[in-house]
Amino acid sequence: MNNFEYYNPTKIIFGKDTYDQIPARIKDATAGNRIMITYGGGSIKKNGVYDSVMESLKDYEVVEFSGIEANPEYDTLMKAVEQIKENPVDFVLAIGGGSVIDGTKFIVSAAKYDGNPWDVLTMKEGCKFEYAIPFGTVLTLPATGSEMNSGAVISNSRLKEKRTMGGPQGFPKFSFLDPTVVKTLPKKQIANGIVDAYMHTLEQYMTYPSDNLLQERIAEGILSTLIEVGPKVMDNPADYKAASNLMWCATMALNGTLRAGVAYDWATHMIGHELTALHGIDHARTLAIIAPNLYKVKFENKKEKLIQYGQRIFGLEGSCGEEAIHRTKTFFESLGVQTKLSDYTDDYKSTPKTIRKRFEERGWEALGERKDLTPSEAEKIIEMSF
Ligand code: NZQ
Ligand code: ZN
Repeated sequence: MNNFEYYNPTKIIFGKDTYDQIPARIKDATAGNRIMITYGGGSIKKNGVYDSVMESLKDYEVVEFSGIEANPEYDTLMKAVEQIKENPVDFVLAIGGGSVIDGTKFIVSAAKYDGNPWDVLTMKEGCKFEYAIPFGTVLTLPATGSEMNSGAVISNSRLKEKRTMGGPQGFPKFSFLDPTVVKTLPKKQIANGIVDAYMHTLEQYMTYPSDNLLQERIAEGILSTLIEVGPKVMDNPADYKAASNLMWCATMALNGTLRAGVAYDWATHMIGHELTALHGIDHARTLAIIAPNLYKVKFENKKEKLIQYGQRIFGLEGSCGEEAIHRTKTFFESLGVQTKLSDYTDDYKSTPKTIRKRFEERGWEALGERKDLTPSEAEKIIEMSF
């Protein structure tokens, strides 16, 4: 087994009717009384989450920052950073999906940073966030795992860029996971959540056989559970058993557990982020477009795991790697998630070349678990995804 370090300080409060515990959890993190809540375009006001969280915060001085968009925008977030620099807060509570939580991770870090935060996102040498205002989350969309990890993805549409950040300061102090929020989600977002969680698992599984047998079985447990409960949640989002399993799968898929002692890929995500930056395609849908073709191009690298996956997850027999890729695509499509770039945009002809050039300019010459996926291969994968 590969050596590994495993650290996750985020407290999870899982289940329904728990928001009255929010003040107690905030008190664990700060004795201060001034809280900023952050949220998105207003879904929390329609589904009752805002009212119940505000009720729990009635003894606090609460300031609000709303309007964090899907694929959170640097310029929007910088407004919150300025607001906090002028009027400091003791704690920030993010209420939303991955975008609000990621945006909040940026806000709490950039508010404690003296340099230009964009330099951190573009990994300019020596620039990194080290401190943050303590923050917690109330999750409204099971998908990204951001509620229990230290990473964030921030967009800059002026530059058509989407960049990742991370570090120990990015762990939430706590996250409230109430599966009853799932019934308030549009079907499209539920499907996105299932695909994103599935792909987070595959990014840390579909590599080469590892000696960490437990991690492989945990990954397979998440994949099988998502295949089992995904269609049930799509049919009936009020099915508490199915929704709670989806929510816990999504958190477990990207909270650091699966990566312990194994190889990981993440090239599908790196290419997918470019498709969002260039065409505004939902994050999960970019993964559904890229992954099947990436697995075809890197078939030799991944064939042993593709076979293991085909046999253990789909009950296939023999050399079933290609069929396993096909089943993966079919699963995404069964959720209503289309898997071709041309399903989402007409303006795709120059996309492969643009992304190849971007990767070359950034020196991203060697992606994937074996550090051998080249910018030219990324170009080919996108061409195959038309
Ligand atoms: O803006 P609001 O009103 O909140 O509406 C949102 C948004 O329009 C809506 N929504 C959320 N909860 C809802 C709801 N609508 C009704 N009822 C509810 N209960 O759903 C829309 C999408 O929300 P968003 O937060 O963008 O979705 P998701 O959770 O899929 O997050 C996607 C973002 O996370 C990043 C992605 O790149 C993307 O920017 N990721 C973050 C990761 C991480 N931090 O670890 C890893 C992922 O791979 C991913 O890259
Ligand atoms: Zn993802």
